[in-house]
Amino acid sequence: MKKIRIGICGAGNIATSAHLPSYQKIEEAEIVAICDITIERAKAAAEKFNIPNYYGSVEEMLEKCELDAVDICTWNNGHETCAIAAAKAGKAICCEKPMAASLDAAKRMMAAVKENGVKFMLAVPNRWAAPNMALKEVIESGELGDIYLARTQNIRRRGTPTGWFTDKKVSGGGPVIDIGVHKIDAAWFLMGCPKPVAVSAMTAAPFGNYQTRDCSRWQGHPSPEGNFDTEDSGAGIIRFENGAMMIFEATWAINGPGLGETQLYGTKAGAIVDPKPIVYGEKFGWLSDDEVKFTDCNFFENELRYFANYALGNISEEENKYPIEQAVQMQSMLQGIYDSAAAKREVKINLD
Ligand SMILES: NC(=O)c1ccc[n+]([C@@H]2O[C@H](COP(=O)([O-])OP(=O)(O)OC[C@H]3O[C@@H](n4cnc5c(N)ncnc54)[C@H](O)[C@@H]3O)[C@@H](O)[C@H]2O)c1
Repeated sequence: MKKIRIGICGAGNIATSAHLPSYQKIEEAEIVAICDITIERAKAAAEKFNIPNYYGSVEEMLEKCELDAVDICTWNNGHETCAIAAAKAGKAICCEKPMAASLDAAKRMMAAVKENGVKFMLAVPNRWAAPNMALKEVIESGELGDIYLARTQNIRRRGTPTGWFTDKKVSGGGPVIDIGVHKIDAAWFLMGCPKPVAVSAMTAAPFGNYQTRDCSRWQGHPSPEGNFDTEDSGAGIIRFENGAMMIFEATWAINGPGLGETQLYGTKAGAIVDPKPIVYGEKFGWLSDDEVKFTDCNFFENELRYFANYALGNISEEENKYPIEQAVQMQSMLQGIYDSAAAKREVKINLD
C-alpha cells in the first residue's frame, strides 16, 4: 500500500497526545519527520514515537526531508508560516484548528494553497465525531427539513488553558477561537454550511489569570512574551444568507456549570447532538423522540485517516468534505465575532 510521508510541525501537546498516537493506527500514513522551534521538543517526540528525523524549523524540515505532506500542530500564529512554506514546497497540508490567528492570515494561506495547487484540510475533530457523523446522515436524508436555527455552547466553568493560549498575538483570541470553533464548526456543518453574512457578538474578560485551585486546564507551552490579554467569554449570533441563524456561547471561565450542547431546529423536526443524538419530530400524529444509535470511534483517528487518504488522492476534490473555502468561511465567522465585539454592533461578513 502506498503510504503518505508526513512531517509534523510543532511537537507540543496536540501532536504528542492526539496526532502521533492516531497516525500509529493509520496504515496509509508514515511519519518521517517532526520540527519545532524548540528543537528539544522535536527531539523528545522523535525518540518517543520513533520518528527518523527532527528539525528546528519547518524550512529546514522541508529542505532536508522528502515529504508528501505536513501536519501543522503549532501555535495558532505558526499555522500561516508553516502552511505557506509547505504550499510553496508543493506539499499537502493538514492544519489544526483554528485555521489561523486572523482572517487575513487565513486568506493568505488560501492564496498560497491555490497558487501552488496543493491540498489543504482544516482539522476540526468534532466534524469527525461519531454522533455528528451519524446525525449528518439523518439530516442529509431530509428528516429535519430546513434547519433555520441552531444553538451551540462550549462552556467551561474554570478551564482556561495555560501558556500561549492567552497571548493574543500568538493565539488570535481566547475561547471563541480556541473552543468556540469546535462547536460552531460542527453545528454549521450539520446545518449544511450555509453562507455566513453577519455577526453580532460580545466578548468579556472578567476572570483573567485566576488562581482557583484544583481546576483541570490544558497546558500550552509559554509564549515568547507571556502576555495574558484574551477574552474569557464570548457569545452572540451568526446570520446566514438562507435566513438561518446560530446562537453560540464559548467560555473558558464563567460562574455557572460546564455545558457542551448543540440543538438544531428544522421545519420538519429538531435534533440535539449531545450527550447523544435525538431527533424530535412527530409520528402518526404524536410527538416522537428518536435516538440515533451510533458506533463510537476516535475522532482524531477518523480525521487524520481522512486526511491521509485525501492527500494520497484516494478522495477526489468533489468528494472532499472540508474544502479550503469552507475553512476560510469558518475563520470569517470567528473574525466577525471579534470585530462585532470590538465595534459593539452587528458586522457584515463579506468574502467576495
Ligand atoms: N483539536 C483539538 O482538540 C486541539 C486541542 C488542543 C490544541 N489544539 C490546537 O493545536 C495547536 C497546538 O496546540 P498545543 O496545545 O499542542 O500547544 P503546545 O504549546 O503544547 O505545542 C505547540 C508547539 O508548537 C511549537 N511551535 C510554535 N510555533 C512554531 C513554528 N512556527 N514552527 C514549528 N513549531 C512551532 C511550539 O514550540 C510548541 O512546542 C493549536 O493550534 C491549538 O489550537 C487542538
